Amino acid sequence: MKKITIEGKKELTGMIKISGAKNSAVALIPAAILCDEEVTIKNVPNISDIDALSEILEFINGKIKREKDAMTIDASDIENKEIPEEISKKLRASYYFMSAILGKYKNVEMYFPGGCNIGKRPIDQTLKAFRALGATVIEKDNKYKIYAKELIGAKINLDMPSVGATVNAIFASVRAKGITTINNAAREPEISNIIDFLNQMGAKIEGKGTSTITITGVDSLHKTTIEVIPDRIEAGTYVILGALIGNNLKIKNTKSEHINALLEKLKEANANVEVYDNYIITNKSENLKNIDVITKGYPGFATDLQQPLTTLLTQCEGISTLEETIYENRFNNVEYLNQMGANITIDNRKIHVKGKTNLKGCEVKATDLRAGACMVIAGLIAEGKTTINDIEHVLRGYENIIEKLQNVGAKIEYEEI
Ligand code: EPU
Repeated sequence: MKKITIEGKKELTGMIKISGAKNSAVALIPAAILCDEEVTIKNVPNISDIDALSEILEFINGKIKREKDAMTIDASDIENKEIPEEISKKLRASYYFMSAILGKYKNVEMYFPGGCNIGKRPIDQTLKAFRALGATVIEKDNKYKIYAKELIGAKINLDMPSVGATVNAIFASVRAKGITTINNAAREPEISNIIDFLNQMGAKIEGKGTSTITITGVDSLHKTTIEVIPDRIEAGTYVILGALIGNNLKIKNTKSEHINALLEKLKEANANVEVYDNYIITNKSENLKNIDVITKGYPGFATDLQQPLTTLLTQCEGISTLEETIYENRFNNVEYLNQMGANITIDNRKIHVKGKTNLKGCEVKATDLRAGACMVIAGLIAEGKTTINDIEHVLRGYENIIEKLQNVGAKIEYEEI
């Protein structure tokens, strides 16, 4: 187990640089295998989810060169072989290989993907997309055998704007015959980054950032270089932190337009946040006041930021309400915040946070990635020492989080037991 101990209430000052977006990079790597030539992905974050994807890629004989934050992938010799369950269940994004392999070879066998334990997270919309393109899908236990003589462009109507299903539908159709239209597509900026990558390789995809994506199939894709966009969830997490305990804390390499929904809510709560072109200055905020938040698909308030935001809500005067509409089980952080002195009640898919409450350090747990980020913020603003067990969940998605925080004045000790 990996754990950290934080000594709280140290003001944070200096600069934190935002890394490449996890949820973009984890799709760009599998996208590389759709190409028959070498591609380079720059600004890849150094997080364990990327290591898990590299393991899959190398298992199927992909060649990877890593130099600083650049990753060069040569997938010209990959073999279409079954990826062992213990690797594919390490992360959600493993199923991007399912669609990319299907798109390239027209057949694939793979296990159900992993990912944070925050809800049921079925993959029915992805399978529906594969079927619409003419594939046969055989499900046995948690394994899928998917094959087609030919994938043929079709209309794919998603029941909800699922990020994963949108990406998988694109990967499966990019080399299909004819035109595919994805209706009710997700509009997240990471998907636009992925579409740019594929189009640079020679794909014909239109409609990025909108709910209707049209793909005209092409026979082959060629080499290119792409840069991963800045991680909006990492940026949002540090902006929330800075609004609580920053002293001119600069969050650099941000695309503020990607976190507008958060910035608007922070403004409504009286948070001390100044937004510039590619950086944000944060300061400890006086007189934070209660707000109501509902999570939505992009450009709405990101579900991935609701748990980090919950720590800020404990410092707002009055009762704040937060409604989680994307996942059924994303309040695992609440129990631990309450142990630290918060006053939060869970009411089905909503929480009510009564503030302001002083948080006191104690032993808590990172139950998943963003719940862990919530606990890190709580530990940094709490009185005394907070130990966060299972911190490996956080290391899956936040590059060098311990070093980045130590560099701006946080007192954190890391231990592996
Ligand atoms: N859903 C279905 N059926 C499907 C697909 C999704 O019912 O076939 C439901 C899910 O159960 C969920 C909702 O639709 O309730 C949204 O799921 P979506 O497919 O959009 O999420 P995802 O692709 O599995 C990605 C991110 C998540 C992020 C969501 C929403 C990656 C690898 N993961 O997940 O990131 O929360 O989009 O923005 O891109 C995180 O980084 O902490 C994280 C969980």
